[in-house]
Amino acid sequence: MAKFRTLDDLDVRGKRVLLRADLNVPVKDGVVTDATRIERLAPTIEALIEKDAKVVVMSHFGRPEGRADPALSLRPLIAPLKKAIGGRDVAFAADCIGEEAKRVVMALRPGQVALLENLRFHKGEEANSPDFAQALAELGDVYVDDAFSAAHRAHASIAALAGLLPAAAGRLMEAELSALNSALDRPVRPVMALVGGAKVSTKLDLLRFIIGKVDVLAIGGAMANTLLSAEGTEVGRSLCERDMADNARHLLALARERNCRVILPEDAVVAAEIAPGTATRAALIDAVPSDMMILDVGPKTVDRISAALDEVRTLVWNGPLGAFETPPFDQATVAVAKKVAALTRAGSLLSVAGGGDTVAALAVAGVTEELSYVSTAGGAFLEWLEGRELPGVAALAVPDSDR
Ligand code: 3PG
Ligand code: MG
Repeated sequence: MAKFRTLDDLDVRGKRVLLRADLNVPVKDGVVTDATRIERLAPTIEALIEKDAKVVVMSHFGRPEGRADPALSLRPLIAPLKKAIGGRDVAFAADCIGEEAKRVVMALRPGQVALLENLRFHKGEEANSPDFAQALAELGDVYVDDAFSAAHRAHASIAALAGLLPAAAGRLMEAELSALNSALDRPVRPVMALVGGAKVSTKLDLLRFIIGKVDVLAIGGAMANTLLSAEGTEVGRSLCERDMADNARHLLALARERNCRVILPEDAVVAAEIAPGTATRAALIDAVPSDMMILDVGPKTVDRISAALDEVRTLVWNGPLGAFETPPFDQATVAVAKKVAALTRAGSLLSVAGGGDTVAALAVAGVTEELSYVSTAGGAFLEWLEGRELPGVAALAVPDSDR
């Protein structure tokens, strides 16, 4: 991974710092239902306040498609942001560029914080427009990007703007990049990936990339059915992408070629329907009744995955192992999550997880705080697992000549 500047490399005293945050948090009836992203941003704002910077926070929220939409205003985030930074005042600018934004930023004294209205109210944001980036740049002296979870978007506040001002990664971005780096770029080996979720088709690139990186790959979730079925296992009425059979076989062949050991389910929890508390039973994978569905990996598979976890030093995890939203099909995911937490606590495993469903599953298991690192990113985490260059990360890279 390329080198990038951090807050430690910037002189921000008395300066206007344009801080790109990802405040795209879940909101219901005007109330933030999960403040994780706001809480994880707070240390960067506090570090900047500590350094007597004038902090100008900017973010997108939802997908307003270039038009001002009151339902997607950042106003409801003023209070949660204020709370996350110890009750300090947060000024608000009803537009993220132009006279209104300038007026609010101009009024800031060192150590004060302002929040700008939704960046995506302007078409120039998603278009990565140089003019829009210039209008933003007029509000700051330096640029700090703390929005890893939006780093897969080549938008003006993430890409073009970074080239117009001295740029650095904020604390959250720094933590994300260093966790991802120790998980896949320079991991302590052996390294294992745990990949779940419904479809092979949405994770083909991810699986291809991961197979070239890890020593062990354990696959669960309905995507495992596709791989099993491609190798001739009858999966009954389970969710299975039969048209992906060739791709599935190629992946397994690639794994053999790359000496990546693949763990597929050897048993499953099956049921006739996916409903809370429905009757279930465990079946060996070659004995799945034709009228039943695989809805979770079985206890033998959990044991096999646990034994593999005992042997490895690094884990990267994306995707639940079963239909975890519907208990009891959360059991394997929860059991493995607890195992990962215990090994991490014991200091024998570095564990990194990310993706919306995975984070939700870890919360169900009650171990979110116990993994080495849980990413705040969804799409960006997946693209990183596909080995893609993220525009937001690339924009922060310091050329070799400047190091
Ligand atoms: C996210 O929530 O994944 C990021 O904020 C990116 O949002 P987007 O998918 O609307 O670009
Ligand atoms: Mg998204």
